[in-house]
Amino acid sequence: MNEMNLLKKYGSPLYVYDYDVLKERCMDMVSFGKGLGDRLGLKVSMHYSTKANGNLRLLELIKKFGLKIDSMSLLEYNLAKEAGFSNQDILYVCNNISTDEMREIGKEDILMCFDSISQVESFGKIYNNRDIMIRINPNSNGVGHSSKVITTGKETKFGITPYNVSSLKEVCKKYNLNIKGIHLHLGSLFLDNKIDDYISGVRDFLEIVSEYFENIKIVDLGGGFGVDYQRNKRLSLALLEDRLYEVISSFKGDLKYLEEIKFEPGRYVVCEAGYILGTVNSLKKENDIYWIGTDIGMNVLLRPSMYDAYHEIEILSLNKNRIIANICGNICESCDVLGRKRDVICPSLGDVVKVYDAGAYGYSMASSYTGRLRPAEVLKHGEDVKLIRKKEEISDVMRYF
Ligand code: LLP
Repeated sequence: MNEMNLLKKYGSPLYVYDYDVLKERCMDMVSFGKGLGDRLGLKVSMHYSTKANGNLRLLELIKKFGLKIDSMSLLEYNLAKEAGFSNQDILYVCNNISTDEMREIGKEDILMCFDSISQVESFGKIYNNRDIMIRINPNSNGVGHSSKVITTGKETKFGITPYNVSSLKEVCKKYNLNIKGIHLHLGSLFLDNKIDDYISGVRDFLEIVSEYFENIKIVDLGGGFGVDYQRNKRLSLALLEDRLYEVISSFKGDLKYLEEIKFEPGRYVVCEAGYILGTVNSLKKENDIYWIGTDIGMNVLLRPSMYDAYHEIEILSLNKNRIIANICGNICESCDVLGRKRDVICPSLGDVVKVYDAGAYGYSMASSYTGRLRPAEVLKHGEDVKLIRKKEEISDVMRYF
């Protein structure tokens, strides 16, 4: 089915996912984990980070292709269970959760990761004799495509700094909580040119782990594996494996009890598998600038307006001549622009617009802002197309009142 027919059948705009690409990216992660694990002589677990895309049907595939999972809310946890993940394969890496939520997740045998002493204390008041994981902020610079997604350093809300580890240990002792693992997430999206920064963050972190903690069995290095939205050069997993092998093995003497390394890749797994199709609703030239108005608003894809993020955009048209244009959505905010100064085919109204690499933090960050409802999601497997999430309807929203 071509793009125009997909939109006719499922409505515009539409999220489309490609089965083969998803499978390939999962396989990349599985073999990365295996390669690093074999070299280190440690177990390496790859937990897909649900926040990137929580579509149940995709989670089922991600499980089938061999990944474990990371959840950070009750809904994400329920989705993981529904997709068939066992408690042993689920990590709960949360931030500022209520005691009700702790109680609920704590009923299950799930490794929870806390990132403040007060959360550890709240948990300890409910459950004793448990293994937990602690998120550390090494205070060194993180890595990420925008300051908004860098999660270590002095400005971030995440993690416990080394200065407070002694108070943390007192609280753990009081409630008989055993720190089984230590967690780090430096930020989201690094590519080869930032591997040095990533590795230096990992080194700072491992220094803290070996200096301040004893008997640590798990080291969790979080996510961040990047995707090049300009579509030029892929992250070299071989290089990353080499560099991680080097740095982790240099700490093996200090971390005598270490059994397992965990990672939580989100973007890498789903990003390239997904794209958005939409429709050109208007075309104008004002102040010497062409504006292509589409139905892919910031409610459908928030990343460009939130982070100035770049996504490749293509106009699918029978026309031939090209223009330099700004491509925007249909929401009443000036930041509702998908891309500026793009060299694209000059569209006719009704032509299809395609936004690439939207599988991660696309639908999961979508909203119904200004009453523009969330689109449907479909999964393409060869010629077969399956609806994997219905498009939101006005009646769905009305149910809440
Ligand atoms: N683990 C933790 C604790 C995280 O906070 C995150 C992402 C991940 C794993 C997965 O990171 P990834 O492998 O996807 O880089 N909305 C932003 C990205 C925010 C990332 C939040 N945390 C964006 O659209 O770029």
